[in-house]
Amino acid sequence: MNKSFNYLISPEISKLRHFSPKLRIAILASGDGSNFQELIDLSNSNKFDIDIRILITNNSNAGCLLRAKKSNIPYKIINNSNYKNKEDFEDEIMRIIIEYDTELIVMAGWMKIMSSNFVNSFRNKIINIHPSLLPSFKGNNAIKEAIANGSKITGCSVHFVEPEVDSGSLIMQAALSISNKENIESITNKIHLLEHKILPLSISQAGYLIRTSFKGND
Ligand code: GRF
Repeated sequence: MNKSFNYLISPEISKLRHFSPKLRIAILASGDGSNFQELIDLSNSNKFDIDIRILITNNSNAGCLLRAKKSNIPYKIINNSNYKNKEDFEDEIMRIIIEYDTELIVMAGWMKIMSSNFVNSFRNKIINIHPSLLPSFKGNNAIKEAIANGSKITGCSVHFVEPEVDSGSLIMQAALSISNKENIESITNKIHLLEHKILPLSISQAGYLIRTSFKGND
């Protein structure tokens, strides 16, 4: 695809912060993991001071799992159908996050809705990427709905996670126009390219907040 198209990112942050020691993150993903791959690549090329401690996926067939294996990133497959109930499933994820000593949890295509108990256990420490300009088009079909609704502009958002789905304060957004030549595939591809830009920058921003202003407020 043509990778050059007009877009707008706000806030206009373009540099990743330095973290010493590296920012310890956990990735929660259920799908292909192209955002996860972007983080692996930035980390491996020493362009971003992150330590991807663990990938947690609920899907043993997910592309993100192959990416973790290929890059020697520790991973856990936590399939909800192997647990008695949602509470046990989430307890296991919490246990792993604590065991791997992570500072920030990044939901990068994580398809499970987490309970308020889980979210409140890691307050201000979970971020999520969503393929719309929130608060428009929450939920699973964001790109399709934006097009079906005749939106002329759409994009992606990274936000802190609150118990209510696809809510919480926004960290960064990227916007692009939808022309009448576009279809779901072309918009999805463009949104992915923008996600790969704003997710690392948002992790950088959230990590900075976690290491500074949020300290002592836990
Ligand atoms: C992204 O579009 C993200 O916004 C949504 O799930 C998709 C994950 O893509 N939550 P990938 O698995 O990182 O390629």
